[in-house]
Amino acid sequence: MGKKNDTIKADFLVIGSGIAGLNFALEASKYGTVAIVTKKELMESNSNYAQGGIAAVLDTMDSFEKHIEDTMKAGCYLNDKKAVEIMVREAPKQIQKLIDIGVGFSKENNKLSLTKEGGHSMRRIAHVHDTTGKEIERALIHQVRHNENISIFESYVAFRLLTPEHKSTKAQKHCVGALVLNTEKNEVTTFIVKATILATGGTGQVYKRNSNPKIATGDGVALAHEAGAEICDMEFIQFHPTALAKKGKPALLISETVRGEGGILVHKDGKRFMPNYHKLAELAPRDIVSRAMFEELKKGPVYLDIRHKGSTYIKQRFPYLYNELWWYGVKMDKDLIPVAPAAHFTCGGVHTNLNGETNIPGLFAFGEVAHTGVHGANRLASNSLLECMVFSSRAVNSTKKYIRKMQNAKCKMQKIPITYNLKPKTLNEIRKMTSSIQKLMWSNVGIVREEKKMKKTLKILDRYETNIKQVLKTGINRDILELKNICNVAKLITQAALERKESVGAHFIV
Ligand code: SIN
Repeated sequence: MGKKNDTIKADFLVIGSGIAGLNFALEASKYGTVAIVTKKELMESNSNYAQGGIAAVLDTMDSFEKHIEDTMKAGCYLNDKKAVEIMVREAPKQIQKLIDIGVGFSKENNKLSLTKEGGHSMRRIAHVHDTTGKEIERALIHQVRHNENISIFESYVAFRLLTPEHKSTKAQKHCVGALVLNTEKNEVTTFIVKATILATGGTGQVYKRNSNPKIATGDGVALAHEAGAEICDMEFIQFHPTALAKKGKPALLISETVRGEGGILVHKDGKRFMPNYHKLAELAPRDIVSRAMFEELKKGPVYLDIRHKGSTYIKQRFPYLYNELWWYGVKMDKDLIPVAPAAHFTCGGVHTNLNGETNIPGLFAFGEVAHTGVHGANRLASNSLLECMVFSSRAVNSTKKYIRKMQNAKCKMQKIPITYNLKPKTLNEIRKMTSSIQKLMWSNVGIVREEKKMKKTLKILDRYETNIKQVLKTGINRDILELKNICNVAKLITQAALERKESVGAHFIV
């Protein structure tokens, strides 16, 4: 079990197979060999579950200035304006690129159908019904699977970045690849590459109620942090206001586009409450709607109501949601949909410049794992797929230059002691610890935060960290590695939340 240690060499190592990773891999494959490692199948990523769409200025009545202002306003002006400008101005080009590779965006009267979400002053969200992420992934995967320069490693979990000292600048670490666990064979593979890219997506699994897939355990942030990369703004965890809230059922994301198309939030008696909180009512930025829900849920269950749009429209516009909800016993066209907030998106992450470069040479990041400053204190809806496309494309240039420079570089590899003798603690014990951390974070570092509770949480997390280190000494498997990452990210979120004394955007303290 796990005794082999194979080595694979490539120019680029992409960790993660969401839209950011796949888009980068395709473009980078023109300049070198690319290895993509992904924890499950290529398709399993946060991007795949993005229902809403991708924001871009595509209507003549709209303008870059308006999209920039909406993004800054949602982010409480803590955004990096330069990053926002770049993202917004490059958006229409990225939409065209997606159309060119076969993404079948929804159309109306022969024009792209543009929908609306919270915080947007215009209809500017291109979408594929309510499965936009899935359709973009499908189109990208089709290209990636047919590309001879790209190798795909599914069921591989990266668990350590290789950061030896550079020969010429002794003190300077640089990243030359990663150690990766093949979870089907329980073997460790060493990837030695010129440029290592983190495109691992989000951290939703840190929280008990979250809209993310099981793979979203904050791996990229944890790996980068362990390697000494700069991590920023982790306190800004965005809670999506509307995820299914039915006992025993998963917190299925109910897209904000349901509200964008007229859905309202009500109590059982049909009374709306959002107009009391914000002039944009249900379409206020997500942090505001989530906090309003937090308050209203104290009075009783909250529902999303879209029945007034009629059965035919609902089934055509939201085929995925209609079907999923039907399985959970909710008919979107006939019933009120019980909803409550869920952790959804990490606005902070591994700090990068506008070209995806981290503070560690050879280590790059983009997409949800990265912090370019584009989201500030709260991300504007449907800017995430856009961020993935824009910053992964921009990073191709910087990585291309970097690998050329690295052509003849030599580095001294440190010896890395690893226990290959996998004797994991029982899965049950690991899962219990994971679930306890998720509950702790949900109660104590959630939508509304208190300093005292957060300080207590940090102490408890320290104890979990010690326990996890003990387990890791006995060997590694996927579950313990994910638990280690969840604990590491939970600490980063709590520390950052404790450091920010004022309430702003997604960070709210009482
Ligand atoms: C949604 O459809 O509400 C999620 C899309 C996003 O997070 O931008």
